[in-house]
Amino acid sequence: MKFRTGVTTLAMMAAMTMTAAFAQSGGASIYKTKCQMCHGATGMADSGAGKAMKVKPATDPDVKKLNEAEMIAATKNGMGKMQPFKDKLTDAQIKDAVEYFRTFVK
Ligand code: HEC
Repeated sequence: MKFRTGVTTLAMMAAMTMTAAFAQSGGASIYKTKCQMCHGATGMADSGAGKAMKVKPATDPDVKKLNEAEMIAATKNGMGKMQPFKDKLTDAQIKDAVEYFRTFVK
C-alpha cells in the first residue's frame, strides 16, 4: 500500500501546483479588470485615473512598507479615494489581486 500512498501524494502535489498556477493567473485577471485602471498595468499608477487620483506607484516607500495583510486590509476596506472591495470581490480574489500587485513592489 506504500506505492498507492505515494501516487496519491504525487497527485495531490500536482493538483496543488495547478491551483497555485491558476491562482496567479486569477490574480492577474482580477487586477487587470478591477485595479489596473487606477494602479496601472505594472503598478506604477501611470494610467489616467491613477494620475488624476494621485495613486502612489508600487515603488513608493509608503506602498513598499505595507505587508501583504495591510494591503489586503486596504483593498477590503478602502483607502483614501479607493472604494472598499469587500462587497465586490471575495477574500480569495482580493488576496490574489494583492499578491499580483505585490509582484510590482520591488
Ligand atoms: C478607483 C481607483 C482605484 C481602484 C479601482 C483600485 N485602487 Fe487601490 N488605491 C487607490 C487609491 C487612490 C489608493 C490610496 C493610496 C495611494 O495613493 O496609493 C489606493 C491604495 C491601494 C493600496 C495601498 C497601497 C498604496 O498603493 O497606497 C493597495 C494595496 C491597493 N490600493 C490595491 C488595490 C487592488 C488590489 C485593487 C483591485 C482589487 C485596487 N487597489 C483598485 C485607487 C484605486
